[in-house]
Amino acid sequence: MSAFKITGGRKLHGDLNVQGAKNSVLPLLAACFLCEGQSILHNCPKLSDVNAALDILECLGCRCKREGTTVTVDSQNCDMFEVPECLMREMRSSIIFMGAVAARTGKALMSLPGGCELGPRPIDIHIEALKKMGAVIECESGKLICEFPEGIKAADIYLRFPSVGATENAMITATVASGTTVIRNAAKEPEIIDLAGFLNKAGACVLGAGTDTVTVIGAHKLYGCEHTVMPDRIVAATCMYAVAAVGGRVRLKNIETEHLLPIISTLTDAGCNLEYDGHQIVIVSHSRPHNFDTVSTQPYPGFPTDAGPLLIAMSSVSKGTGVFIENIFDRRFGYIDELNRMGANIKTVGRVAIISGVRHLDAANVCAADLRGGAALAVALMASHGTATVKNTEYIDRGYDGFEHTFANIGADITRI
Ligand code: EPU
Repeated sequence: MSAFKITGGRKLHGDLNVQGAKNSVLPLLAACFLCEGQSILHNCPKLSDVNAALDILECLGCRCKREGTTVTVDSQNCDMFEVPECLMREMRSSIIFMGAVAARTGKALMSLPGGCELGPRPIDIHIEALKKMGAVIECESGKLICEFPEGIKAADIYLRFPSVGATENAMITATVASGTTVIRNAAKEPEIIDLAGFLNKAGACVLGAGTDTVTVIGAHKLYGCEHTVMPDRIVAATCMYAVAAVGGRVRLKNIETEHLLPIISTLTDAGCNLEYDGHQIVIVSHSRPHNFDTVSTQPYPGFPTDAGPLLIAMSSVSKGTGVFIENIFDRRFGYIDELNRMGANIKTVGRVAIISGVRHLDAANVCAADLRGGAALAVALMASHGTATVKNTEYIDRGYDGFEHTFANIGADITRI
């Protein structure tokens, strides 16, 4: 178990390259299982969640290799279909492998993902979508068995909610269906567009990714291909809210500015100075930020739930009062008690948080209990007076490639202990 020791009050200055997106790599790795031969992913961040996905692929018979930020997956002759429970538990989003494994081998056997630190994580939308394509799915004693006894059928699928993972599972599976599948009320997140780009290079025909109707014209086979993972918009948001909370001037490179528009809007309202073009942003903050009025999380292109904790970290030291409404997950406020331990003034009622900004936070030892909440605590400590630790950094390591180096390189006083 490790912790970050942080001394607050150091302004952030410099340039940083934003890592590849965790939430894009994971479905891309699942899709690699369906591609015969070798797939090469560039800009692949070093994360414990990515390692867990690579362990799953190896367990299924793939040969995986990492050289720097390039990962190669060779899925020639893979015919294994069982993902062991210990690996399913390591990463909740391992359900994303279900469609790919069943489509490649005719059967997938995995355990139910269960709940996680953000609340219950049902998979009914994934199951409904796969059933529409001919899957027979049984769930017994915590095990899921998914089979396509009559092959994968093209289908017209309506998702009751635009679930990111269910859209990805359905898209991946539909690439090898016989005929044309239409996924309606699909998620529109940029990671969906990245996945479609990869699948199309692998020989699929996916149209409309990034809109609410995705059409997949089934092909017989997919083949390994080469792809560069899109930049991580939540890591970019983390750095920007840190600059806003702490002060300084940072240039973020290797980003897609268009993916960050809801974040940029809150930072402009906070009084930060932003200059940007397509792939980089310079953010400057010289004074205490202004609090937002109301922000509510929504599926893309709305404000992303994953950036909420980082916004609240900034908001806790802002001028005025902000109201934040979490619409995607049931329990995403676990870190707020820890922010209050540092002297923040945040009240929560159900999925609503009311943040009355304080002039400064006092460093206090805190514990991360989830990925983004953990990152928010580290940002809050950077903005605090004094020195303290964030424990349980393993949560932060799930989504940030060298969190401490990223921030130390732009002037934060942060070390891993
Ligand atoms: N949901 C259902 N049934 C389902 C699937 C989802 O009720 O079958 C509900 C979930 O319980 C949740 C909501 O729908 O309340 C959204 O879930 P979604 O399926 O869209 O999320 P996900 O695919 O499980 C991805 C990201 C999350 C991110 C969400 C929302 C990955 C690997 N994870 O999860 O990322 O918060 O989309 O944008 O892509 C993170 O990076 O910290 C993270 C949690």
